[in-house]
Amino acid sequence: MTRVFSGIQPTGDIHLGNYLGALRQWIPLQQEADAFYAIVDLHALTVPKAPGEVLDATTRLAQWLFAIGLDPQACTVFAQSALSEHNELAWLLECTVSFGELRRMGQFKDKSDRAEFISGGLFTYPALQAADILLYDTDQVPVGEDQRQHLELTRTIAERFNSRHGETFVVPETVLPIAGARVMDLQHPDSKMSKSADTDAGTIMMSDQPAIIAKKFKRAVTDSENSVRFDQINKPGVSNLLGILGAVTERDPETIADDYEQYGPLKVDAADAVIAMLEPLQARYNDIAADPAECRRLLAIGAEKARTVAAVTLERARSNVGLLPR
Ligand code: TYM
Repeated sequence: MTRVFSGIQPTGDIHLGNYLGALRQWIPLQQEADAFYAIVDLHALTVPKAPGEVLDATTRLAQWLFAIGLDPQACTVFAQSALSEHNELAWLLECTVSFGELRRMGQFKDKSDRAEFISGGLFTYPALQAADILLYDTDQVPVGEDQRQHLELTRTIAERFNSRHGETFVVPETVLPIAGARVMDLQHPDSKMSKSADTDAGTIMMSDQPAIIAKKFKRAVTDSENSVRFDQINKPGVSNLLGILGAVTERDPETIADDYEQYGPLKVDAADAVIAMLEPLQARYNDIAADPAECRRLLAIGAEKARTVAAVTLERARSNVGLLPR
């Protein structure tokens, strides 16, 4: 059976970009594959956090993952920090990746340009991400477009490790969604929708109420041309609205453009489609959020299942490198 792995950071609440770009793909894969999904809380520590912040965000994120339809009977959902295997393999991979390769990563350049404090962890982040993936003998990694560079580096690291130390890791493939791989900020359509945007006016949070969603779409930045066309270079704002509507309704954005002459009705329809999609998920989230202890119990069961796979791969990697048996 195909093995799938993906991860998401517990940094604030999740948004429409996370859902359309990655999480929505995770749901059918639970039935079609042997799927492992991690809340990558160690990755969230690369940027300084207040005490308790990561723990709260981890619980809320797990509640969202169950609310959108991950079924702990059908897949393995766990928190990365529950398993020491991730850190242990990360070290072996840090010693496999080069300084130059890490320095070329767009996410590092982007975040370190903006950060007051640039941690060593922010720099070595891609080695930990590679460890997450390689520990599970992963065939496929469903993610949004912004993860493509880290996944290419993961493949490079796996191939280099295999050639230095003998066959150890499966070299994984990246799986992007057909639509929604890059959802842009509604206020700054040249930047991706993100949890770390300066204002939340351009970000649709999964928990946003209908009136807020309608307002954010109404105020979405477009252009002064007043013609509806899908053209991501010259019309990023309008194309983003078409892309979102297309991803939600599973239609082609270029075809949808033919239905509109003005921006107003397109904004209303995009907002309505998102509201209708989110309503049942929000209702399930509210039920699940009432019992945080249950959620932590499910994560603990997931971590035990994950360990049975991760421990075997780590042992193989240690032995192939030539470390003392434990
Ligand atoms: P993170 O937590 O930033 O995002 C989680 C997932 O959401 C996708 N995504 C988007 N997709 C479309 N449009 C957007 N605007 C958008 N914003 C986010 C991301 O592509 C991602 O799939 N480094 C990873 C976490 C990670 C990971 C892993 C992922 C750690 N280890 C192993 C896969 C496998 C990250 O920061 O994702």
